[in-house]
Amino acid sequence: KFTPRVFSGIQPSGGLTLGNYLGAIKRFVQMQEEDFETIYCMVDLHAITVWQDPADLTRNTRELAAGFIASGISPEKSILINQSQVPEHAQLGWIFNCVARMGWMKRMTQFKDKAGKNAENASLGLFGYPALMAADILVYHATHVPVGEDQKQHLELTRDIAAKFNHDYGVDFFPMTEPVIEGAATRVMSLRDGSKKMSKSDPSDASRINMTDDADAIAKKIRKAKTDPDALPSEVEGLAERPEARNLVNIFAALSDRTVEDVLNEVGGQQFGTFKPLLADLAVSKLAPISTEMARLMDDPAEIDRILAKGASQAREITAPILKRTYEIVGM
Ligand code: ADP
Ligand code: NA
Repeated sequence: KFTPRVFSGIQPSGGLTLGNYLGAIKRFVQMQEEDFETIYCMVDLHAITVWQDPADLTRNTRELAAGFIASGISPEKSILINQSQVPEHAQLGWIFNCVARMGWMKRMTQFKDKAGKNAENASLGLFGYPALMAADILVYHATHVPVGEDQKQHLELTRDIAAKFNHDYGVDFFPMTEPVIEGAATRVMSLRDGSKKMSKSDPSDASRINMTDDADAIAKKIRKAKTDPDALPSEVEGLAERPEARNLVNIFAALSDRTVEDVLNEVGGQQFGTFKPLLADLAVSKLAPISTEMARLMDDPAEIDRILAKGASQAREITAPILKRTYEIVGM
């Protein structure tokens, strides 16, 4: 009974990485072409759960919008929004703060990662952010959410919140949203440490490929990526104990829309000295056009703002009735 509808978001907290691209954005573009309504969001309310310089936040929000569009998200085919411009996200977020339980939130591993050792000094927003994320999704009655693997637990929480709301109020109002975690690169790892996720918040710039890196920077980072001395295996099992090698092969497969098996059929037996330049060329050929287009779009910020304003008004046609009905159910 729910319209097939996709929602997903990325924080405008500065700099898209290859992890964001392969784990999320590439899939956003594919789903836009499938039988779904698609809504993609710069989640600025999430970004401010940790300090953001105001001028940077404004710029990063536009740059992220440019990154979405340059990657192939069309404002004609998808609704592209900035979260704070669609107030129903925060309004439903409050209701969900009252549905979610403290014990559920305390189990979120990402809070532990992001708050670090000094959790007492983290913002209340950082602790509560998965409840707002549930609202981001459910304020559209979204049925599918494409994300990287690190978001799996938050999607489970979203379902728990929907189920508890439906149960407590005796309704069948919110859908059980499905995460879409697919492809060869649902968890892209750091180029310097195969046990850590590639992230914009990693202090080492060499650990990640930024969507704005030029061809030289991309090639250099791949050349210097940590690896082991062995040749590449020709079977997937041969990557089991080799996280760095596996990561580079996964990236190669995802960038070329091939399976890991297929890639290993071709490159099995190669040394990294041969494989890395192939990967660098592939990465440059896929990413350089995106960063060039991002820079072009950033020359006209007013046009980006216009696209986001239009997206907000389209979004509110969906969110306003869902919020209104939620309030009625709650007795408000
Ligand atoms: P970050 O994780 O860098 O703080 P976000 O939380 O805004 O960025 O993540 C946006 C999307 O990108 C999410 O769907 C997340 O799962 C995905 N993502 C982020 N990093 C990676 C990664 N290293 N590999 C795969 N997907 C990732
Ligand atoms: Na994340």
